[in-house]
Amino acid sequence: MNASSKYTLKNGVEIPCIGYGTAPLTTTIGSEMPKGIDHALKCGFRLIDTAWAYKNEDFLGAAIKNSGLKREQLFVSSKCSNRFRGYDRALMCFKESLSLLGLEYLDLYLIHWPAKDGPDEEWQAINSSTWRAFETLYKDGYVRAIGVSNFWPRHLVPLMESAEIQPMVLQLEYHPGYTQPEPVRFAKEHGLIVEGWSPFGTGQLLNNETLKSIGEKYGKTPAQVILNWSIKNGVIPLPKSNNPERIAQNLNVFDFELSDKDMAVIDSMEYFGGSGWTPDTITW
Ligand code: A2P
Repeated sequence: MNASSKYTLKNGVEIPCIGYGTAPLTTTIGSEMPKGIDHALKCGFRLIDTAWAYKNEDFLGAAIKNSGLKREQLFVSSKCSNRFRGYDRALMCFKESLSLLGLEYLDLYLIHWPAKDGPDEEWQAINSSTWRAFETLYKDGYVRAIGVSNFWPRHLVPLMESAEIQPMVLQLEYHPGYTQPEPVRFAKEHGLIVEGWSPFGTGQLLNNETLKSIGEKYGKTPAQVILNWSIKNGVIPLPKSNNPERIAQNLNVFDFELSDKDMAVIDSMEYFGGSGWTPDTITW
């Protein structure tokens, strides 16, 4: 594997094995624009992950335009906001994202969060209706691949049962101490490629002594250890950083191989930090 390596989605589209996350760097939505995008593109990040809810698509679009890169060199991914669930509203959200980004198509479009499940089946109908909009966008050539974010198997099963076109990607929070084994296993069994957001546990893992001491053996930082570990586990990490040196560091993670023993240590780390968001707890 190297920084240009790709996985192939079930429809044949290729997706880079590492991406640049652009969620606002504080946890308050919309509070801070990522400033590192120019640098990320210069360094070689080609998968750029955004969302309508991040309120940065116009900013990213301008950076993409100024980068001088050809559109087909990039893999641009966005997400349909929770505020726009359902067929018509999802199409509206997509149209707005595409226009803000100044692009003619997206490489990947994801449902940001599932509708909260409950005793009646309305939430399933809502997710399916959103998904039908995604199928329309896919068939009309506006998106090269479609998928979901933060869905657990209990959300994925009904969506997949009612889908005409199956989801190709599952994005979810994934880092040492929070590896979400059930959704990841389910996704892999059903041929979905998995992307992991907040690989550093919203930064809380970066001072971890275990990760530090593993990193020392390879001459790498805890951040680089985590990214290498995620890639080795077949999960596309989406590190966020606004700092040029750290952005470069986050792509320089392919020149070492964690031993099976170190992988096992990281795989079994206890939870001690993360976003705290789940499909059951998010309020936005
Ligand atoms: P910064 O922008 O100052 O680099 P996560 O992706 O898990 O949510 O974590 C994001 C946080 O991790 C940001 O605060 C970011 O800060 C920090 N970060 C990103 N890359 C590195 C790195 N290589 N070393 C240290 N901190 C990093």
